[in-house]
Amino acid sequence: MILKSTIDAVFETARLEEVIGDFVQLKKSGSNYKGLSPFSEERTPSFMVSPVKQIWKDFSSGKGGNVVAFLMEHEHFSYPEAIRFLAKKYNIEIEETEQNDEQKAAASNRESMYLVSSYAMSFFKDALWESAQGKAIGLSYFKERGFTDETILQFELGYSPNEWTALTDASLKSGYQLSFLEQTGLTIVKEDKKFDRFKGRVMFPIHSMSGRVLGFGGRILTQDKKAAKYMNSPESEIYNKSKVLYGLYQGKQQIAKDNNCFLVEGYTDVIQMHQSGVKNVVSSSGTALTPDQIRLIRRLTPNITVLFDGDAAGLRASIRGIDLILEAGMNVRVCSFPQGEDPDSFARTHTKEELDAFLLENAKDFIQFKAALLIDEAAQDPIKKAETIREMVQSIAKIPDRIKQEVYVQSCAALMDISEEVLFSTLAQVSQKKDSKPNARADQKPMAIVSQKQGASQVSTRFELEKNIIKILLLHGHEEVVFEEPVLQTDDASGELKTVSSTIKARVFEKIYLDLQQDEIAFTTNSFKTLYPKILEALNEQETLQMDAFVSHLPAALATEVSDLLLQDEQYPLHDWARKNIYVDEKSSLLNRWIHEIILRFRCQLIDEKVGALQGETENDHQVHHAELLEEIVQYHKLKKVLSERLNRVV
Ligand code: CTP
Ligand code: MN
Repeated sequence: MILKSTIDAVFETARLEEVIGDFVQLKKSGSNYKGLSPFSEERTPSFMVSPVKQIWKDFSSGKGGNVVAFLMEHEHFSYPEAIRFLAKKYNIEIEETEQNDEQKAAASNRESMYLVSSYAMSFFKDALWESAQGKAIGLSYFKERGFTDETILQFELGYSPNEWTALTDASLKSGYQLSFLEQTGLTIVKEDKKFDRFKGRVMFPIHSMSGRVLGFGGRILTQDKKAAKYMNSPESEIYNKSKVLYGLYQGKQQIAKDNNCFLVEGYTDVIQMHQSGVKNVVSSSGTALTPDQIRLIRRLTPNITVLFDGDAAGLRASIRGIDLILEAGMNVRVCSFPQGEDPDSFARTHTKEELDAFLLENAKDFIQFKAALLIDEAAQDPIKKAETIREMVQSIAKIPDRIKQEVYVQSCAALMDISEEVLFSTLAQVSQKKDSKPNARADQKPMAIVSQKQGASQVSTRFELEKNIIKILLLHGHEEVVFEEPVLQTDDASGELKTVSSTIKARVFEKIYLDLQQDEIAFTTNSFKTLYPKILEALNEQETLQMDAFVSHLPAALATEVSDLLLQDEQYPLHDWARKNIYVDEKSSLLNRWIHEIILRFRCQLIDEKVGALQGETENDHQVHHAELLEEIVQYHKLKKVLSERLNRVV
């Protein structure tokens, strides 16, 4: 952890206009500066920087904030990365909290590994451009592949001389220790012998998102069948291949701007597409995409387009990776290249316009893509068809957003010519299996009914209601509100029971907790199920919910979900109320209405579900309990009527 005093020093020293000036051309305009927005392709400047207030505002995208916010938006740094960047720029020494000797040693070990990797990158680069061997073999190879000088420089490509210890010797001579050469895998040490791992290969440095060299891929230039075509840096303290994406450093800004990321298979695919002008592209370097890599992309965009080589033999198998992306709540499109082509060869032989047009025309939604596979493979084979539909539903089940699920079910039904009802009930089965842990059986009963006629919309209504409750708790859980509650009282005079309205003061989370408990409402969305008790616990312990502390203790997936919830625009359903001409005078009464409405809606929803379940039973039941069931349904309808009336009074 960086010390607060360091952070303060950074904020005191950093000049916003200087920092931004490194990235955006700024012109003085009155007491402010103005420039072209770095977040959109605009012609007239709408990007403003106020040196007095030390804030910036981009009117084209609506973004704005302080100096750290700019670096986080523009360079996609995390908060500590931004602080470190500024500390470095202004020569401020970074002090960290409570680092013991072991941690200090580990940090300096990592730092040394970064340094030697960066040195190696320069060494390979020099060898490529300056040495006779590098020029004759390495540079001419890259040129043959169609890479321009500019591209080769931009990706910092290099050449590792065809000698046993060229890099090792040069590094040792420049004062780098053998231990770090060994730990980064640049040098292989065997007993008293040592030699360069990448001897005689062209070099592709692999950068972190913020541009540090973490490792290398080296391509062989000879036709040796026994040697691997690519040799990669081994996993190390600084290089973890499942957490790195090739091309992310060079492409991150374009990915954010285009709000889409192309995913390709290899180093050369990334470079060639970049050179053609399609810069929002990354590669997972020949391995299946991992959840960590997906998270990296998610910082920039929720949209991924996966590009497959035309000859991808294991296409069917590799599209399983798509489920991982869906699970992360991202939108996936898929595009395969013509037989025998990969993004590299296609980009090389076509213009930017042709490439754009091809991608636009051929990138399909994953549902369409799976359907297209079927049509190719076995249109007339009912067993295959059933299998494919099941696969589609399994993919749909991975999507966390219920509304999206519903849309996909509709499109799957239309494409595969099958009823939505069947798909919804299959979806319910699949989701249930996914959720069922040994002790989760009780949960399964009530919600298994969603395949009823209105099943589809029930799933999303319920999800929306649950989402709203979580949102209220996060935003206002600690606030105190005065509620009007109907309570039963005995009339003093007559001794009869009557309902009177009583005002109750409570904190929002207490009120919600009690209401939900009273109705035995349990959350059905998995992430909410986990979040709910955590929020209550935090609110119970603290006066207010310290959002950053709360979020930082959550697992990554939940943390993302919480931030997404908090960042959604409509914090209050204001529009609805405005439309209904309800005058909202102060915040607390607005909050009151919101909470009250959500709880009532929740109760109505619950009744709908119960009635649905009972109706299901009447259909299966052979007359025995029929009358009882019907009576129960009638009771529920009455209750619903009462609630609906109250709801109408609220909204
Ligand atoms: N790869 C690897 N080791 C190998 C083969 C492949 O690490 N022995 C990784 C590399 O990151 C490579 C990617 O898988 O970029 C895709 O492999 P492939 O399509 O065979 O390589 P290309 O990138 O197409 O390379 P080239 O065009 O030079 O053959
Ligand atoms: Mn390839």
